Amino acid sequence: MTMSGSANVVRFAAPGRVNLIGEHTDYNAGFALPIALPERTAVAFQPADTDEMVVCSDRADAPVRFPLDTKPCAVTGWAAYVAGIVWALQHAGHPVPGGTMSISGGVAMGSGLASSAALACAALGALLCATGRQIDRIEQARIACRAENEYVGAPTGLMDQLAILFAESRRAQLIDFDHLTTRSVAFDPDAHGVALLLINSQSAHQHAAGEYAARRASCERAAAALGVSSLRDVQGRGVAALRAVSDPEDLRRARHVITENRRVLDTVAALDERDFDEVGRLLNASHASMRDDFEITTAHIDLIAETAVGAGALGARMTGGGFGGCVIALVLADEVQAVEAAVREQLHKTGYPEPAIAHIRAGVGPGRRRGPGLR
Ligand code: GLA
Repeated sequence: MTMSGSANVVRFAAPGRVNLIGEHTDYNAGFALPIALPERTAVAFQPADTDEMVVCSDRADAPVRFPLDTKPCAVTGWAAYVAGIVWALQHAGHPVPGGTMSISGGVAMGSGLASSAALACAALGALLCATGRQIDRIEQARIACRAENEYVGAPTGLMDQLAILFAESRRAQLIDFDHLTTRSVAFDPDAHGVALLLINSQSAHQHAAGEYAARRASCERAAAALGVSSLRDVQGRGVAALRAVSDPEDLRRARHVITENRRVLDTVAALDERDFDEVGRLLNASHASMRDDFEITTAHIDLIAETAVGAGALGARMTGGGFGGCVIALVLADEVQAVEAAVREQLHKTGYPEPAIAHIRAGVGPGRRRGPGLR
């Protein structure tokens, strides 16, 4: 199906995200520090006088059709993210036209890079452009998150959507999920002789949905044991505040959240000083906390992070929800080749799939595309 000749086609693209630090803190009203990926998911929407939406993807054989009055869970799979946006927009009182939406995916799926939020934000942007509606970015994030939580049924937080919607070139966003504010932080390691490597393990996260929900429930139980509505309420008292959490597993989960929030703020301070050695140490500490306290890494992911650091990286950590996906490594420009080679060799030796390794920079947020091929 091609729509490139049609004058009223709206083209819109949204990036994936890489979280520098601050994992599983969003639904605990904490802090995170993400950037956007250069890779973007693009949609082309052609409105039509119809009560249905037809969605096609370059990654799927057949189009998916659903009525505009679709209800949660009626559509499943990749098209559910578009159906969820159609549902959540109307739920928030915004009109949604019918038509055809074609998706060309640039963000790797199942790799912890927020491909689903990229698709949701691209679909949302296209539908808003088509109706001439303007909604502020916090509200857009809420709508996209609602699509994921209530339509798709994934109990995720707001990080991916806010990371994508507020992204800026060569900058990271410090997100405060309690106050729902963002602060733009300079993040341009290349200008200081440091590279950010994204190492995709090529092992998609498995069983992640159930484990994600279990981590969230653990954090909620810990907050309840402390008599507060979220762990953020005890952040100022540090881990000492957690003595009243009697369940040892819930205690470890909460300890990750409290220490991770501290590491996010320390990373921002280190970036303000351009102290990439310190940022590296914080990435390592974050990985250890996800491995030992939150228990969301895998042997494969741990091996990548350890090997990168052993070969000279300033620091490395898994990024994203966990149980597979990607590792980021901060590496002096001169050491990039050695780190890459060491990781490839070690994974080959131990029988893991060949990783995809890319040197990445913080990219821009979503936006309208002017024509086919233009981003
Ligand atoms: C997934 C979720 C986010 C966030 C991260 C972990 O990406 O969609 O809301 O919780 O995991 O930091």
